[in-house]
Amino acid sequence: MNEFYQKDIISIKDYTKDQLETIFASTDKIMQLNPQDRREICKGKTLGYLFYEPSTRTRLSFDSAMASIGGNSLGISDISSSSTQKGESLADTVRIMSIYSDVLVLRNPLDGSSRFAAEISDKPVINAGSGTEEHPTQAIQDLFTIKKEKKKIDGLKIGIVGDLKYGRTVYSLLYGLGNYDVDVRLISPESLRIRSDSTYEIKKRIDFTETTDIEDHLDELDVLYVTRIQKERFPDEEEYLKVKGSYVVGLDMLKRMKDDAIILHPLPRIDEIAADVDTTKNAKYFEQAEYGKHTRAALLGMILNENGF
Ligand code: CP
Repeated sequence: MNEFYQKDIISIKDYTKDQLETIFASTDKIMQLNPQDRREICKGKTLGYLFYEPSTRTRLSFDSAMASIGGNSLGISDISSSSTQKGESLADTVRIMSIYSDVLVLRNPLDGSSRFAAEISDKPVINAGSGTEEHPTQAIQDLFTIKKEKKKIDGLKIGIVGDLKYGRTVYSLLYGLGNYDVDVRLISPESLRIRSDSTYEIKKRIDFTETTDIEDHLDELDVLYVTRIQKERFPDEEEYLKVKGSYVVGLDMLKRMKDDAIILHPLPRIDEIAADVDTTKNAKYFEQAEYGKHTRAALLGMILNENGF
């Protein structure tokens, strides 16, 4: 039996390096399959999604991934049109969705929501973003992108810039990178440093330095992972306005980076990467979004097939 069969994906912390490498190998395999063979992998299976927060990439890439492996998707992406509006609880909504689906994908603004859902659901639950806590399938996609584009993860110098306080992709990425030998620079405004309640956990896994000055690090980095300032998570708009536009990666910055450095971003992008960077060979964020479809197809294939694919 494959070790991912019928398993939840709640936190990237639950994965070893060997398990991540198994997921990457399965993603490589699925990318090489012809469309007809690919559509056999989850034929007749149903993915159920419940998105309590907006999403473009995560929901659509799960949807597209499931279609590409022969399954179908149903769910709720506009919670205002669901019975949540009548007061139905998350627990009951999860129970109902797990009746209609073989696997459940949940995004919810509350930390701990996916683990809570996994305790209730009869079917495997995939965390598609839980509060400011984690977004594990994004990290799998990010690590896979680094591996594909840089041909390795060990030995790289990785800068993560932007909103490190509220950006859940940052936490999952850091926990995932903890399985590798990497040198990490965390670059943010003082008020958006990684949360002190997570520093201990991250320090156990990874060596990092913190700075507010991106310029000092540009020429050393192999990967620059840019994040959006998460306006919607600020308790006070004044605080957001103080840090808005703190870092804008443009061609001027790119010129000071290694020729083969790559720029990643989980997206959506607002103004933190200038549009003229998009056409450079260093910009890999749209490839990153495409890899997200394939990593999610591989995960679904492994979760829903006892013997893998
Ligand atoms: N990267 C990401 O989670 O994008 P969405 O919010 O559009 O799903």
